[in-house]
Amino acid sequence: MELEKLRRSGLLVYRILEDLKGMVAEGASTHDLEIAAEKMISDAGAKPAFKGYYTQASGSKYPYVLCTSVNEEVVHGMPSSRRRLRSGDIVSIDTGVLLNGYYGDSATTVAVGQVNDSVKRLLKITEESLELAIDRVRSGNRLFDVCGTVEKHVISNGFSIVRDFVGHGIGTSLHEEPQIPNYVDRRGENPRLKPGMVLAIEPMVNAGKADTKVLPDKWTAVTQDKSYSAHFEHMVAVTENGPWVLTRP
Ligand code: MF3
Ligand code: CO
Repeated sequence: MELEKLRRSGLLVYRILEDLKGMVAEGASTHDLEIAAEKMISDAGAKPAFKGYYTQASGSKYPYVLCTSVNEEVVHGMPSSRRRLRSGDIVSIDTGVLLNGYYGDSATTVAVGQVNDSVKRLLKITEESLELAIDRVRSGNRLFDVCGTVEKHVISNGFSIVRDFVGHGIGTSLHEEPQIPNYVDRRGENPRLKPGMVLAIEPMVNAGKADTKVLPDKWTAVTQDKSYSAHFEHMVAVTENGPWVLTRP
């Protein structure tokens, strides 16, 4: 069954992120995380979903198994041995796998050493917005219920929703219909949720303004005002019995 296969992919991504979280420390480089992730993926008999993934916007294939986005980097930051983590940083770790024909995709943001209270709050509100959205993934609800829940929680707590990147359906492709913005996009689709659908919900939240830009490397998205940005992602299946988060036990 499709969902069982997606579950296996989801749990592999979960295990990888758990291991990587344990490696996040002052002095570790984002390249160290990349090397560990690459080994875990190949040891599991899986393929990385991001490495070699072509996007029109960049005009190139993404070169790593991880996206590691530090501080003002929103998404698609690239691992580097020159990027050593320091106390006060936050790092979003995002990875995807292909296992037995089915994709897994999840992300989390971790604080390095001591971060200040406003940064802690950014992480908390972003993660909460994802949890609240997960609870809306119910048969009969509509996509806008999910999107609007993220939006409301983030905005009412004084942070900004990134509008330039969105979540997505996932299955035998990494990115499937529908697009899942973290705000209600009235020009977009608002399908009713049905059992069997799998949503990759991924709020990207900025401490400052919403605007982003892509660096000359063509991949790394950063906040224009250099404010910190947080990112959490889970794959959530619609079932007869409510939401099933495929990317955690
Ligand atoms: N989680 C992100 C997404 O779903 C990461 C994609 S990075 C890429 O789009 F390299 F695959 F583009
Ligand atoms: Co994704």
